[in-house]
Amino acid sequence: MEDRQTDAPPLYDSVVNQNTSPPSYPSLQVLSATQIQSYYIPQPIPQMPAPCVVETISTQRRHVRTYRSKRCCFGGLGGSAFLVVLLIIAAWLGVRYGSSLWTLSGKDKETDICPPSSVNCDGKRDCSLGSDESRCVRFGTANELQVMTSKAGSFLPVCAQGWSKNIADQTCQQLGFRQSYAVDVLKSNSSVFQSMNNQFSNTIQGSVNISLSCPLQQTVSLRCCDCGRPPVSTRIIGGDMAAEGQWPWQASLHFRGHHTCGGTLVAPDFIITAAHCFSQEKSDYLLPSNWKVYIGMVSQLKLPSLYNVKKITIHENYDPDTKNNDIALLILNRPVSNVQPACLPVFGQTFSPGSKCWTTGFGVTREGDDSGSIILMQVAVGLIDLVVCNKPAVYNGLITENMQCAGDLIGGKDSCQGDSGGPLVCKADDRWYLTGVTSWGDGCGKINRPGIYSNVGRLLTWIHGKMQQERQ
Ligand code: ARG
Repeated sequence: MEDRQTDAPPLYDSVVNQNTSPPSYPSLQVLSATQIQSYYIPQPIPQMPAPCVVETISTQRRHVRTYRSKRCCFGGLGGSAFLVVLLIIAAWLGVRYGSSLWTLSGKDKETDICPPSSVNCDGKRDCSLGSDESRCVRFGTANELQVMTSKAGSFLPVCAQGWSKNIADQTCQQLGFRQSYAVDVLKSNSSVFQSMNNQFSNTIQGSVNISLSCPLQQTVSLRCCDCGRPPVSTRIIGGDMAAEGQWPWQASLHFRGHHTCGGTLVAPDFIITAAHCFSQEKSDYLLPSNWKVYIGMVSQLKLPSLYNVKKITIHENYDPDTKNNDIALLILNRPVSNVQPACLPVFGQTFSPGSKCWTTGFGVTREGDDSGSIILMQVAVGLIDLVVCNKPAVYNGLITENMQCAGDLIGGKDSCQGDSGGPLVCKADDRWYLTGVTSWGDGCGKINRPGIYSNVGRLLTWIHGKMQQERQ
């Protein structure tokens, strides 16, 4: 976190006596005048060791799916026929699921295997990991529930007739939430709808049918959790330090006992963070049991109860060289209760360049510092247009559509090392929406070098898709 316009917080070293020498961050290198690249290898930021908190040791292990055949002895013709059938089934399973087995290489990737006959959004899961059914629901403006079915081929609003709290709960569970929070009706001007069948069967897309009429044109608006409204209203206290309860969704991800990255709680079981936090070279970082998650605190010296990580899912198309698609999803070992998550944007929701948003984190408060901030820091940053950010004098074409620039072209207001994975939130209708995930930058707070965040709006389909596939 950098904000040279306000009083700097007490230096970490003045608060804590360091016994161990901190790891050093590789210095930034300028490859050529036109190619700017930020180098950051996630490493634990030296801070105080966690004060006594009761740890529940994770028993989580990497899932290795294997198909073991039982050895049986059969006599006679019947027995060999049975064996042949068994072999055919085994071969079929091998073809269908074989390559979706977890590989234990450094770069774990789950690949979904879909048979040629697979149909998207028909309510029947065809692919091994279910990707054919995990991109069929989204929220539009005013949280309008929109469902795509194989028959419709496009997203349509859901008619409110026949809707119930029970269906709302099941739809939210399908999306990775625990239950529904609020249901409302909207007046739609659509001429085609999805109407509820008599009963909910497994998925919402499997429970609706296209219809050309809907009584009073009333469609469903659905919220799966109360989000983005912190108990403490935004007030800057002591310069740049965040107040308790101001950014409740802020997570601190500890790798082997040290704060290493930030994260954002977006649903009771899910944290959004950056893919680069799980450095591709060292597989230790990919091991869920090496991580602990603390949520909602404002001081590293007062850690709340911890959460273990059940699974780390990294964007399949994350590119460590360009930092494109720098996003990851963590599943927690138990749901977080009584902590307000940040809202995920709805489909098509954008914040215009110049919007004043906030980024928060426990990262270093001055570029080059060895240790992160003990206190949660906050800084207001303006969103910067992609075209401006890609100008030769700024990032000269390095910024992709999946990135969001924010900060100040005159420098000074920025996130920094250790803030990665943390939130960039913008306010709309009195709620804070997760707009970006702290990703990279050339230095911190430098002129013409704003901070780069992963663009959550652009990565929303991936987020919802994974949350559905990994639902608890
Ligand atoms: N990559 C850094 C991290 O892992 C975040 C850098 C953000 N830099 C910036 N100038 N905003 O903590």
